[in-house]
Amino acid sequence: MNQDQAKRAAAQAALKFLPEGEPIGVGTGSTVNFFIEALATVKNRIPGAVSSSEASSARLKAIGIPVLDLNSAGTLAVYVDGADEINKHLQMIKGGGGALTREKIVAAASRRFVCIADESKLVQVLGKFPLPVEVIPMARSYVARELVKLGGVPRLREGFLTDNGNPILDVAGLSILDPPKLEAEIGLIAGVVTVGLFARRPADLLLLGTASGVRELHAQ
Ligand code: A5P
Repeated sequence: MNQDQAKRAAAQAALKFLPEGEPIGVGTGSTVNFFIEALATVKNRIPGAVSSSEASSARLKAIGIPVLDLNSAGTLAVYVDGADEINKHLQMIKGGGGALTREKIVAAASRRFVCIADESKLVQVLGKFPLPVEVIPMARSYVARELVKLGGVPRLREGFLTDNGNPILDVAGLSILDPPKLEAEIGLIAGVVTVGLFARRPADLLLLGTASGVRELHAQ
């Protein structure tokens, strides 16, 4: 099974965790794109979705699933999204696609977070994947200096702005031994919009596409 097949299998497996007749939250990325494809086959069960990016909204609309405003949708039963890295506690690095802020909001507003990923995403220690940090434009250099003090090597994501119009710093060189602590520390730096650590609100279930099928993993 290649990586795309593993992503597709994990995405397909998420269908059985969807509520009947209730809106859901939908994330962003190549694994979620397979999930949206799979949603097309059950769209009569899905009255609408809150999306974490303009890209996913366009895909949802294209298959005829109404995109809802989170302000009127209320608490969502389930949020389905991918990850750039995930550990055995189901804490994640996200934001490789730049959608981290809306992803964190929709995840926070959902009772259950189902992460879909291929097995390359499962790691012992988070941090090999550069940690995305969305910043207010005028704070970019200040935040970068503060991230250096935390031991990171921040680099501006060239030619990229988020759906919210902000730049992203990708922070290499971090070995993240205490993800909730670092999430709080970086989140408190003035000018940080969102840090792509999802540790205080980890996933509840990981559907991991592997060569021998989809494994269901709960936080350890
Ligand atoms: C988007 O900003 C990210 O958080 C994605 O969820 C993450 O990058 C996973 O993407 P893939 O499914 O493309 O690996």
